[in-house]
Amino acid sequence: MTDAILTLKNVAYRYPDGTPALDNCSLTVRRGSRTAVLGTNGAGKTTLFLHLNGILRPSAGQVLCGDNPLDYSRAGMRKLRSQVGLVFQNPDSQLFSASVQEDVSFGPMNMGLEEREVRTRVAESLLAVGMAASADRPVHNLSYGQKKRVCIAGVLAMKPEILVLDEPMAGLDAAMQQELMSVLDQLHAAGMTIIIATHDLDFAYGWADDGIVMEAGRLLAQGATTEILLRDDVQMALGGAPLIAEINRRLLLIGIDLRDNGYLPRSKGELLQAITAQTRQESTP
Ligand SMILES: Nc1ncnc2c1ncn2[C@@H]1O[C@H](COP(=O)(O)OP(=O)(O)OP(=O)(O)O)[C@@H](O)[C@H]1O
Ligand SMILES: [Mg+2]
Repeated sequence: MTDAILTLKNVAYRYPDGTPALDNCSLTVRRGSRTAVLGTNGAGKTTLFLHLNGILRPSAGQVLCGDNPLDYSRAGMRKLRSQVGLVFQNPDSQLFSASVQEDVSFGPMNMGLEEREVRTRVAESLLAVGMAASADRPVHNLSYGQKKRVCIAGVLAMKPEILVLDEPMAGLDAAMQQELMSVLDQLHAAGMTIIIATHDLDFAYGWADDGIVMEAGRLLAQGATTEILLRDDVQMALGGAPLIAEINRRLLLIGIDLRDNGYLPRSKGELLQAITAQTRQESTP
C-alpha cells in the first residue's frame, strides 16, 4: 500500500468555455516522492496542478490531500495553500506586488507568522534562488528568469509540505537550473514531496522517482520513471525517449548493454560506471 499524499479520483474538468481538460483522471502522488508530470502541450498538466491546490474544482470526481477530500471553504483553502505550494508556469500569473520583497512576504504573512519569522524566511528564500540582492527591486522590471526565481522564493518562504512546480526550469539559465536542482534536493532530503511538470525527459528520468504521464486529459501511465519512460506507448505519446534509452538501443545493436539488473544508468556517475564495466568485459578474454 502506498502512502498517498495527494490523490485524484476520477476527476473531470472542463473550462468555462467548454474545453475538456481532464477526463476521468485518477492518480496518486506518494508522500516524500520526487514526481515528474509529463505530457505534450495541452495534455492537462497545468490543469492538474491547479486542482492540487484548489484553484480549480473538479467538474466531477474528487481530489484528496492525505485521506481527506479537499475542503473548498475559505478556511480550508487557506490551510491547503500552506500545505501545497504551487509555482505557476507563467510568473506573471503569480507576481502581483510592487517589490520582490513584498511579493515573497505575501505567503508567509498570510499564514499569520510573526514579522521576524517572515523576514527570516523571505531572506532565506531569496538567497536560495540567488535574488537576495534584488529584494527592493520592482517586480515588473525583472527579466523572465528573475521573475521565475522570485515566484519560487515566494512558495519556498511558505515551507509547504508539498512543492508543486510547473515547468520551473524553463527560462532559467544553466547555472540557476543547477542551483535550483540542489535546492530541490535539499528540500526533498528534508522530507518535502516535490512534483514537477516538465518536458525534459532526461531530467525526469534522472531526477524523479515517480512519473505521471498525461495524454489528452487522461492518465496514460504512472509508476517508476525508470520503467514507464522506457514503455513504447509512453514514448509514442511523449514523442521521445530519454537520451540514455536511445543510446542503449543503438549500443544493443553492437552487443553492448548498459543495463544493470534491467536498469539503465540514471546519472553521469552511473553511466561512466556502466561504460567501465562494459570495457572490462570487452578486455577480459
Ligand atoms: N483558461 C482556459 N480556458 C479554456 N481552455 C483552457 C484554459 N487553460 C487551458 N485550456 C485547455 O485545457 C487543455 C489542457 O491545458 P493545460 O494548460 O492543462 O495543458 P499542459 O499540459 O499544461 O500544456 P503545456 O505543456 O503547454 O503547458 C488544453 O486543451 C488547453 O487548451
Ligand atoms: Mg502547462
